[in-house]
Amino acid sequence: MRKLNLLMALFLILPPFLSPGQEKAAKPITAVNVQSMGPQKLGNLPPVAVPINNQQSTLKIQLGKKLYFDTRLSKDNTISCATCHNPAMGWSDAGPTSVGIRGQKGGRRAPPVSNAAYAPLQFWDGRAPSLEEQAKGPIANPIEMGNTHELMIQSLQGIAGYVKDFERVWGSSIVTIDMAAEAIAAFERTVVTTDSPFDRYARGDENALTKAEKQGLEIFNGKGHCTACHWGSYFSDGRFHNLGVQPADISKQDAGRYAVTKDTADMGAFKTPTIRDVGLRAPYMHDGSEKSLEDVVDLYNKGGRTHNCNLSPLIVPLGLTKCEKKALITFMKTAMKSINPEVADVKPVPASELPK
Ligand code: HEC
Ligand code: HEC
Repeated sequence: MRKLNLLMALFLILPPFLSPGQEKAAKPITAVNVQSMGPQKLGNLPPVAVPINNQQSTLKIQLGKKLYFDTRLSKDNTISCATCHNPAMGWSDAGPTSVGIRGQKGGRRAPPVSNAAYAPLQFWDGRAPSLEEQAKGPIANPIEMGNTHELMIQSLQGIAGYVKDFERVWGSSIVTIDMAAEAIAAFERTVVTTDSPFDRYARGDENALTKAEKQGLEIFNGKGHCTACHWGSYFSDGRFHNLGVQPADISKQDAGRYAVTKDTADMGAFKTPTIRDVGLRAPYMHDGSEKSLEDVVDLYNKGGRTHNCNLSPLIVPLGLTKCEKKALITFMKTAMKSINPEVADVKPVPASELPK
């Protein structure tokens, strides 16, 4: 009963673009569509939902982009958002977990910033409700950018070029942490996938996928029942599951979603990541413990690594053959790779072009 309530609650808080039926008119992806266990079909991403109190504007997006690539947001001027969410590494980093100021290692893998605008909740445990809230976190995180909001604002306020930029957007030369977070979030909302071989296929181009990729898509949506969790145009339900990724040693386990809800059923559960651009950001999982997509697929095929009481009932041995595993991997690696420049070709703003 509680589970049912939780499901209903989650359903209610999902943003409107995830409402079932929205993509009713979309062409069926494959013959196995009927087996899809997720409530929403795979397809093209809808336009990003923009919060009423942070409308997009060109100047705001440009400012957000500069802030995103500026190491001066960190305490010792060494780390920017892009250090850990590098466009050239699938908007993530080399991992397995992130390294912040003074070489400090965090406990979790950097999720991609690309398409994060579609996640109903941010972070592996969903503790931030919006991109705006999320952006304030790393600046003041002692092992990430190691700064304080006050000191960061002081440094921005001391850079005449930034003060001018903020003034152009907000009409005020008093910079606040909220303004900085809003600008960064506005930039992040432009890093969204409109085009990948899969998207072309979903729009009706039969030749956009190779034979192997089509077979992989069928397995993703059928025998592998990956769409039980990686569903909809974002290829994620935005919910939290325990996949048995945790090390067997309890003292080394990450509580995951439990830290937010204090519900024991959430112990070791993490947010379903999107499959978009997944081939560009090895290693995988919240702790970067799976080195390659081959390893990830082996994990699923075995039905998880560590058995525990919270293991998702959907994680069961799959019985995929060697060829089926290969097709599934090919689909994720190449068919889900963004081609549109907003995701694929974003170059860092060089230090010489940052405000002085
Ligand atoms: C030192 C590395 C590091 C830096 C610097 C960093 N991040 Fe992250 N980021 C991470 C890690 C690790 C996580 C996951 C943490 C967790 O879930 O607890 C994360 C999570 C996120 C998420 C959530 C994505 C999702 O799908 O849940 C977004 C968005 C994000 N960061 C944006 C930013 C922005 C914007 C900045 C700059 C203001 C930034 N990050 C700076 C490492 C970093
Ligand atoms: C029960 C829900 C569920 C099912 C079913 C599921 N996934 Fe996942 N997937 C997740 C969650 C949750 C994570 C993150 C788990 C963690 O880090 O502990 C994940 C992580 C991944 C990752 C790593 C992505 C990254 O950025 O680190 C890949 C790749 C992946 N899944 C592919 C698949 C494939 C392929 C299938 C089908 C064979 C599948 N998933 C089935 C929920 C699911």
